[in-house]
Amino acid sequence: MRTPQTILIACAMAVLALASTSSAQITEYQEQQNLGVEAHVGRLTGHAKDAEINYRRYCAGCHGNQGDGEGENAMWLDPKPRNFTLAQFKCRSTPTGSLPTDADLYDTVGRGVQSSNMPSWNPLSDQQRVDLVAYVKHFSDRWKTDKPGEAIPIPPEPAVNAERIKSGQVLFQKLECWKCHGVEGRANGPSADTLTDDQNRPIKPFNFHDQTKFKCGTADSDLYRIFMTGLDGTPMPSFADNVKPDEAWDLVFYLRTLQPQHSKEKEIAEQLGLKPINPNAAVAPAEAPAPAPAPAQNNENKPQ
Ligand code: HEC
Ligand code: HEC
Repeated sequence: MRTPQTILIACAMAVLALASTSSAQITEYQEQQNLGVEAHVGRLTGHAKDAEINYRRYCAGCHGNQGDGEGENAMWLDPKPRNFTLAQFKCRSTPTGSLPTDADLYDTVGRGVQSSNMPSWNPLSDQQRVDLVAYVKHFSDRWKTDKPGEAIPIPPEPAVNAERIKSGQVLFQKLECWKCHGVEGRANGPSADTLTDDQNRPIKPFNFHDQTKFKCGTADSDLYRIFMTGLDGTPMPSFADNVKPDEAWDLVFYLRTLQPQHSKEKEIAEQLGLKPINPNAAVAPAEAPAPAPAPAQNNENKPQ
C-alpha cells in the first residue's frame, strides 16, 4: 500500500535523481546547440552535425541517444558503455584527469576497446570516424571550458637487457602494482576483489598472465603510456609522478615477461630464472614499527 511516507520518499528520490543528472548532463536544447562542435585529427575536420545519423545507427544502441551510456543493450554489457556526458576517458595520451585529444578518441574509435563490447569502427571511413569524435564531444560542455592536456612525452625505446628487466621487477614491487595485478600478474593481488570504478561498479585489474592485448593499444609505447596516464574512471592510477622515463621503460620490459606471448623480454627472464618477489618478505622492512605510544594520559585533561 502507498502510505504518505512512501510517496514522500519516492518524491525525494526523484528530486535526488534529477539533481544528480543535471550536474553532468546537458539539456536537449544545449545538445542541439552543441551540434556545431568540431574535431581535428591531422588534416581531417569532423563535424558533429554530420554524425547524427551514424551515431544513432551504430553507437546509440549501447551509448544511448543522449550519450549517457544507457542504450538498450547496456544492461547486458560488462564493462558498461561509456557515459559521454561525463567526458571522462580511459585511453588518453594526456595526463590523468585531463580531456583526451581528438586523435586519442579517433584512435579509440578505430581500434575498439579490447575485452569489452566496444567494436572496432575501422569499416567506417576516416571522415565518418572524425565526425563521430565531434559527436562524442558534443554531449558534454566540459569541452567548452576545458582543453585537452599536453600529451605526455614518450622517449625512444632503449634496448632491453637483463638489468632493465630486474629493475622493472623491483619497480613493480615498489610501486605496489602487485596489490591489484598480483605478483605474477594474474589479477589476483590482495586488493583485486575489492576494486570498483568511479560509478561504484566492480572492476577487475588487467590479467597479464592471460591477456596479450591492452584496451588502449598493444605496442610497447602504448604500455608505457597506460601507466603514465592512468585509466581515468577506474582504480588504475597514473604513475607519472613516481616513475622517471628510464624506469618506465624498465617497467614495460618487466610487464612483457608476465604476458603469455613470446617476446625477447620473456626469453631473457627465462635465462635469468626470474622468480616473482614475495611481497611480504620485501615489504616487511618498509613497515617501520609504529611510533612509540605517548606516555599514558587522561584524554579529558589533555591540554588543547
Ligand atoms: C555493442 C556496444 C557498443 C557499441 C555499438 C559502441 N560502443 Fe563504444 N563502448 C562500448 C563499451 C562497453 C565501452 C567501454 C569499454 C571499457 O570501459 O572498457 C565503450 C567505450 C567507448 C569510448 C570510450 C573509450 C575510452 O577511452 O574511455 C568511446 C569514445 C566510444 N565507445 C565510442 C563509440 C562510438 C563512436 C560508437 C559508434 C560508432 C560506439 N562507441 C559504439 C560499447 C559500445
Ligand atoms: C589500485 C589498483 C591498481 C594498481 C595499484 C595498479 N593497477 Fe593497473 N589496473 C588496475 C585496474 C582495475 C585495471 C583495469 C582497468 C580497466 O579494465 O578499465 C588496470 C589495468 C592496467 C593495465 C592495462 C590497461 C589497458 O589498456 O588495458 C596495465 C598495463 C596496468 N594496469 C599496469 C599497471 C602497473 C604497471 C602498475 C604499477 C606501476 C599498476 N597497473 C598498478 C588497477 C591497478
